[in-house]
Amino acid sequence: MDKPLKLGLLGFGTVGTGVYRILQRNRAVISARAGVGFEIAKILVRDLNKPRAVEVDRSILTADPREVLDDPEIAIVVELIGGLEPAYQYIREALSKGKHVVTANKAVIATYGARLIRLAAENGADLYYEGAVGGGIPIIKPLRESLVGNRIEEVMGIVNGTTNYILTKMTREKADFAAVLAEAQALGYAEADPSADVEGFDAAHKLVILASLAFQKPISVSQVYREGVSKITQEDIAFAEHFGYTIKLLAIGKRHPQGIEVRVHPTFIPSRHPLASVHGVFNAIYVRGDAVGELMFYGRGAGDLPTGSAVVADIVDVLRNCRQGTHHRVETLWEDVPVLSIDDVRTRYYIRLHAVDKPGVLAQVAANFGAEGVSIESMVQQGRGEGQPVPIVFITHDVEERRLRASLARIATLPVVKDIANVIRVEGGGR
Ligand code: NAP
Ligand code: HSE
Repeated sequence: MDKPLKLGLLGFGTVGTGVYRILQRNRAVISARAGVGFEIAKILVRDLNKPRAVEVDRSILTADPREVLDDPEIAIVVELIGGLEPAYQYIREALSKGKHVVTANKAVIATYGARLIRLAAENGADLYYEGAVGGGIPIIKPLRESLVGNRIEEVMGIVNGTTNYILTKMTREKADFAAVLAEAQALGYAEADPSADVEGFDAAHKLVILASLAFQKPISVSQVYREGVSKITQEDIAFAEHFGYTIKLLAIGKRHPQGIEVRVHPTFIPSRHPLASVHGVFNAIYVRGDAVGELMFYGRGAGDLPTGSAVVADIVDVLRNCRQGTHHRVETLWEDVPVLSIDDVRTRYYIRLHAVDKPGVLAQVAANFGAEGVSIESMVQQGRGEGQPVPIVFITHDVEERRLRASLARIATLPVVKDIANVIRVEGGGR
């Protein structure tokens, strides 16, 4: 076997220690499968004195990035710090020096992916990022390689483990939002700044990566319509159940003749839909290609070993490439297709509002929906007002977002309407 290749790890937190564990535990089989040995030469951390989740030779820990980036012997840099900076600068520098990079950093890939792919190609280096989307689920490689003969029409899924964990516990156990978020943090699922999960930024980053690969179009984060889960209440969950739906944070990418739709938001999906039974930290990604038809990828979307599994797979790919003296085996070709505005999206909607409980109120609300061409599929009013506003819930038929918004703007001005408490999009046919 050839001389072992040297790896430098940047970051030794949840995923870093997961990767280390797998590389130690399965060292022999991994080397045999890669056809070349490897050695973890250095690990960059912020705090050298912090207790670590694994036994590690402390002499390979460093707080100085130069010990990894300036070491000509280190051929592969594994970036597991997270966030944009300094991770982006370190990846750039590594690629510029011809080092191969493996990362699980969706923020960096979503923001600078096209630039980094070019930089890698210019420097004869590989850039792999399977761990960036779906934790342990293989999805990047299928989109980059296995499905290369298809025109992908749709990619849609649950891609954030933290929010799926929160929504599952809120639905099944009526648990409190903040308490469940704290649990997800303790389990190592949440981002350093949990608002990245809760407000949908993490899912938006992942959608950018998936949709860019699926539709061969460099999509920027600002082009993704995004809403998080912080406005979801027990009331919304109860109404969803009443109508036969489950609420999930979905990342949705669809190709239409006029352009591409990319959006992340809480969604009502029929409770019999396969995505409705994806619970806890599990993720699932549905892909539809013109040749292959429908595919579903399912597995643990976060955590040390699941994500470590994806990162290690990338490391093995790079080791194999190094052994064979090849790199950058997958060409990236970009198509010129527009990204559609959320105003142009056509879908169904759940609307929960509070209105005075007296004769004629429903007629006024319905007239304003009708005036903008919004047609109602179902409606429910709960309780008797006795002077207080009562919740009224509507589910619409398919309508353009701009029309729905126009009708809600009119309804909000009605004196009998106290507030429009929540609006949630509905996917996936009837009940
Ligand atoms: P983490 O537990 O917070 O670990 C981050 C590591 O980076 C720590 O070891 C930290 O050092 C080090 N670090 C942070 N800032 C640094 C700096 N400026 N210089 C040097 N080292 C620095 O994060 P994680 O959960 O492992 O996530 C790592 C990456 O994987 C992120 O991009 C994340 O989005 C992605 N990811 C995470 C998961 C998951 O389940 N957690 C799943 C998929 C992808 P200290 O230990 O000394 O503080
Ligand atoms: N914070 C992310 C999640 C980690 O909860 O899905 C996995 O990317």
